[in-house]
Amino acid sequence: MVTKTLDISTETEQQLFFHNYARLPLDIDYGKGSFLYATDGQRYLDMVAGIGVNAIGYGDERLLKAIADQAAKYIHISNLFMQRPQFEMAEKLIELSGMTKVFFCNSGTEAIEAAIKLARRWASMEGNTDKKEVVSLSNCFHGRTYGAMSLTAKPKYVEGYEPLVPDLGMIEFNDIEDLERKVSHRTAAVFIEFVQGEGGIHRVSEAFVDRLKALAAHYGFLVVADEIQSGCGRTGTFFSYEQFDIQPDVVCLAKPLGGGLPLGAIIGNDRVAEVFTPGSHGTTFGGNPVACAAGMALIDILFSDGLLQNAVEIGSMMREAFEKLATRHDQILEIRQYGLMIGITVKREAKYYVEEALKRLVLVNATSQNVIRLLPPLSISAEEAQLCIRTLDEIFSEEKP
Ligand SMILES: Cc1ncc(COP(=O)(O)O)c(C=O)c1O
Repeated sequence: MVTKTLDISTETEQQLFFHNYARLPLDIDYGKGSFLYATDGQRYLDMVAGIGVNAIGYGDERLLKAIADQAAKYIHISNLFMQRPQFEMAEKLIELSGMTKVFFCNSGTEAIEAAIKLARRWASMEGNTDKKEVVSLSNCFHGRTYGAMSLTAKPKYVEGYEPLVPDLGMIEFNDIEDLERKVSHRTAAVFIEFVQGEGGIHRVSEAFVDRLKALAAHYGFLVVADEIQSGCGRTGTFFSYEQFDIQPDVVCLAKPLGGGLPLGAIIGNDRVAEVFTPGSHGTTFGGNPVACAAGMALIDILFSDGLLQNAVEIGSMMREAFEKLATRHDQILEIRQYGLMIGITVKREAKYYVEEALKRLVLVNATSQNVIRLLPPLSISAEEAQLCIRTLDEIFSEEKP
C-alpha cells in the first residue's frame, strides 16, 4: 500500500483552498508558552498570538484541564437547554462590566451582527421608525459578515459585495465636528473601537469620547464598544473603555474570550435588556460549553497571574525600547502602544519586516500597509520581549533602502 503524505506547502494550499488568505509557509506542530514549534524543529517567538487570541500563550495546564473536563461531560447540547458553563461565564462578564444581560455567539463578527440587530430592534421598540442609522468610525474594522462588513466599509473589504446593508454612516476618526455632523435623532447606535486594531493601533481621543457621550445622551442613541481585539485585558484593563469616562450600552467581545476556542459575546445594559425575545435572535453553537469553560479558566488565569499588569509593564518597556531604536533608525516613523497592543509605523510596506522577522524566527504581523503590529500573549516575559526588540533592531540595522 502506498502511503501518500500530505505536503503542507504553499502549492498544496493553492490547490485546496479559496485564495482569501496569504498564509506564511510554516507547518506548526505545537506551541508552548510564547513559542510555536514547527515540524522541522524550529522554534518561533510568537508576537501575533493567533491575531490577539492566545492571551496566555500555549499549553497552559489549567486551561487544558478546563477544556478536557467539560469535553468529557458534553461538548455540545445546544441552546435548547440550560448549560452551567454558560451561566458561569455570563455571571463573570456581568460582574466585570457591571452590565445586565449577555448573549453568546461564536466569533467577533457575529457579536457585531448581534449588536447591529439589537440596536435597530431597540430603536423600533422605542417606537421610533426613523431611528435606523448605525454609525462607525473611519479606519475601523468590525468583521466580515454583511452587517459588520458594511459598517467597516473600506473599499478593500467591500469591493464586489455591494449592495451593502443600508442606513449606515461613518464619522472621521477623532473628528469632533464630523461627529456632530453625522449623528442625529435618526442614529440608533455608534460603534467604536476605543483602540483600533486592524486600522493600525490608534486610540480614540478623550475629547472625542466626551463629546460622543454628550451627544448619545442628547439624541438618545446607543454606544456600542467593539472590544473584540482591545478587550480581555490586552490594553491593561479588562475592557479598554474603562480608561475613558464612558459606560457603553453594549460591549462586543470575542478573540481571546474562549481561551482559543470560538466564543463571542455581547453584553448589554438595562436599556437594551428586553430587546431580544424568544426566537428573535439565536445560534446553534453560540456559547459552546467547552468554549465557556475555557473562557472561565482564561479569565481566572488573567487575574490570578497578574497578566493585566504584565501587559502594562512589558508594553511600556517595549515602547521605551522602540523609542530608543527610533533615534537610530529613521525607518521608524511612529510608535503607538496601549498595553500589549503595539503598532510601529514604518516607511516601507510592513510586510517586509514580517518576512525578515520570520527568517530570524520571530512572528510579527503587518496591518494598514505600513504598520508592524505586535499582539503577543499577555503572559510574555521581559526576556522574550527583549528577543523581539533585538530582532527588529537587527532587521532595521541591516535593512537596505
Ligand atoms: C475590532 C474587531 N472587531 C471585529 C473583528 C471580527 O472578529 P472575527 O474575526 O472573530 O469575526 C475583529 C477581528 O479582527 C476585530 O479586530
